[in-house]
Amino acid sequence: MAKILVTGGAGYIGSHTCLLLLESGYDVVVLDNLSNASEAALRRVQEMTGKTLDLVVGDIRDTSAVRALFAQHSIDSVIHFAGSKAVGESVEQPMAYYDNNVVGTLRLCEVMAEVGCKRIVFSSSATVYGDPDVVPIPETAALRTSNPYGQTKLVIEQMLREIANADPEWRVSLLRYFNPIGAHPSGRIGENPNGIPNNLMPYVTQVAVGKRPHLSVYGNDYSTPDGTGVRDYIHVMDLAAGHIKAVEYLAQHSGADAFNLGTGVGCSVMDVVNTFERVNGVPIPYQIAPRRAGDVASYFADPTKATQLLGWQAKLNLEDMVRDSWAWQSANPNGY
Ligand code: NAD
Ligand code: UD1
Repeated sequence: MAKILVTGGAGYIGSHTCLLLLESGYDVVVLDNLSNASEAALRRVQEMTGKTLDLVVGDIRDTSAVRALFAQHSIDSVIHFAGSKAVGESVEQPMAYYDNNVVGTLRLCEVMAEVGCKRIVFSSSATVYGDPDVVPIPETAALRTSNPYGQTKLVIEQMLREIANADPEWRVSLLRYFNPIGAHPSGRIGENPNGIPNNLMPYVTQVAVGKRPHLSVYGNDYSTPDGTGVRDYIHVMDLAAGHIKAVEYLAQHSGADAFNLGTGVGCSVMDVVNTFERVNGVPIPYQIAPRRAGDVASYFADPTKATQLLGWQAKLNLEDMVRDSWAWQSANPNGY
């Protein structure tokens, strides 16, 4: 079976994808500098699957380390998760974001070109659509973004397309994730944010476990059915499955393509809170707070292209997502 290099494979989405890759019979090599992850995630992935993977602790920008990795392993395709992802931090530290995300991806691609490994699945984000003109959002929608993090995703998408245009041996999948939440149903691996969570679901689970007194609901005066923000939450296991489909697709198809990975279903903040309380039987005290700067009212995916070309479709619903997020948080109140 093919050997896959997973950059950032110790992180939230990466660890779930490594698990599914191993279960699907792939050999896996992870390159992660552990800047936002714990080795424990991959120890658990190996325990859960009964299979081993290789972890190389190193940085995608360290060309000699990446070269050594490719010399040691015959890599078929790269799934590239490594990067920095906090929107607010990117506004404060734009240079660090361009360096880690854009320069990091460039350095990685240079070595890939050198060794002739030219298949890459890239973690893009629905943030590239900014405040969309229409929902559901198709891949053909206008691309615009209002913060350095989103801009790094746009620049990398453009760079990878141009690399593939210049050299038809390159095969590129740009996966635009909507809002990943949930965890492996065993609760053994999950999202482990540092400090106070910015995103909704980790905040909700930390309220549920008693680490935070209440949730602030950022605005209930949006033009949405209940006034709170609407997003397309997608289970991290569905997302992981999308990466396996993308690797399979690249084995058969050349060129560069973008795919939305979302469910196509929009859920409001109150849908998430109410579903969490009902499914898990745990109260989530909340207060209505002012809108958060930079938030949009509503966005969700048109996932038709991924269904038609990748043969991928999200299978899990909001109930599955809140159940599995809680399985992880309640079993691991302090993370790994
Ligand atoms: P994460 O922070 O859990 O995972 C990223 C991993 O990359 C971490 O393990 C980190 O240690 C590693 N890393 C960072 N910089 C590195 C470097 N220079 N060299 C080697 N390793 C490095 O984040 P995640 O939520 O799993 O996200 C993975 C990817 O998906 C990111 O590119 C992110 O921008 C993108 N994405 C995430 C979301 C989301 O909501 N989680 C949404 C859209 C897109
Ligand atoms: C955020 C990022 C986006 C990234 C996405 C997925 C910003 C401005 N955008 O988007 O770039 O792609 O995460 O990682 O940070 N909410 C609350 N209370 C909270 C937290 C969130 O009410 O404590 C609301 C938000 O207003 C929003 C919804 O919950 O309506 C989802 O928020 P969040 O999980 O942060 O995701 P996004 O806003 O979609």
